[in-house]
Amino acid sequence: MPEHRFIVCNYSHNLTSGAVSWQSPSNIALVKYWGKYGEQLPMNASISFTLKNCNTKTVLSFKKKNTAGFDFEVFLDGKREESFEPKIQKFFERVEVYLPFLKEFKFKIETSNSFPHSSGIASSASGMSALALCLMDMEQQMQPNITNEYFIEKASFLARLGSGSACRSLEGPLIVWGEHPEIEGSSNYFGTKYPFAVHKNFENYQDTILLVDKGEKQVSSTLGHDLMVDHPFAEQRFRQAKDNLSKLIPVFKNGDISEFIKIVESEALSLHAMMMTSIPYFILMKPNTLEIINHIWKFREISGSNVCFTLDAGANVHVLYPESEKEIVLQFINNKLSQFCKNGEYIEDEVGLGAEAILN
Ligand code: PMV
Repeated sequence: MPEHRFIVCNYSHNLTSGAVSWQSPSNIALVKYWGKYGEQLPMNASISFTLKNCNTKTVLSFKKKNTAGFDFEVFLDGKREESFEPKIQKFFERVEVYLPFLKEFKFKIETSNSFPHSSGIASSASGMSALALCLMDMEQQMQPNITNEYFIEKASFLARLGSGSACRSLEGPLIVWGEHPEIEGSSNYFGTKYPFAVHKNFENYQDTILLVDKGEKQVSSTLGHDLMVDHPFAEQRFRQAKDNLSKLIPVFKNGDISEFIKIVESEALSLHAMMMTSIPYFILMKPNTLEIINHIWKFREISGSNVCFTLDAGANVHVLYPESEKEIVLQFINNKLSQFCKNGEYIEDEVGLGAEAILN
């Protein structure tokens, strides 16, 4: 079992107090993960672009203690955020077997996001990966001989236990999570770098996130993934995702953006189709989501642009396009699409290379 590799019995060095800090980005799936089993293991393989500008910075301060149990406080933008603490508590309980030092320290977790708190952009991928990296940073101080490969794999493994898609946020530009027969090294337990050739058409790919609905998530990820248990189309969906990932391999190699668009848009709509056809059922798109999609299709037809969209489990639209089209697409977004965003707001992002340690 791969998880046994990540269990540590004892450390060579002692730590008493200190602080570590990491910045980790969000990611956007091209082939979506929707449905899980066991302990946060995916029913199908997924692949995502790592983003650059949407990220979370976390400072983890720690001090040795003698009391029993977990002891931590979470701060968002300098203010205590008790509503985050149950999720962290659950995360600590899940990962304690892999990080046996957790109960020995009192922690202060200070976190801040580069994107607005109420933007409707999930901070769980960037937040959980940043925290997992901070914890691995501590582990490395206690066990300095661990390799970089082990460090990153275990950090991704831990991030996954916090929030599935978080395991795809540590590195970039393209990360696979979930076993796929054509992708050597792919694993259900952690994210791995996409190992094959990627055409320059996909270099610095752009993602402008249109903020259609900034409210709380209507469907939590936990509930969402549960909807795939006994879903009438579950098996077909998992097969479709696997096939779509197979189809992306030659697309990435040849730079065939029109095929890329077909796969990516179909994946986004399939994800939402799963939600519309589950019991209970949900429509997470808003009227403005559909307005944007229709305008993107019309613009593509008229201009010959390679702009396309993808969706998360919400109403916001990720507008994807090659860097070479940045000027015309941003003009189109400004002139046509921004009217469908809450307060006209959108976030310009692009593909990035993953998390970084923040050195004091
Ligand atoms: O990581 P979770 O459990 O929040 O699930 C994320 C699911 C999607 O964002 C809808 C798809 C994906 O692969 O990121």
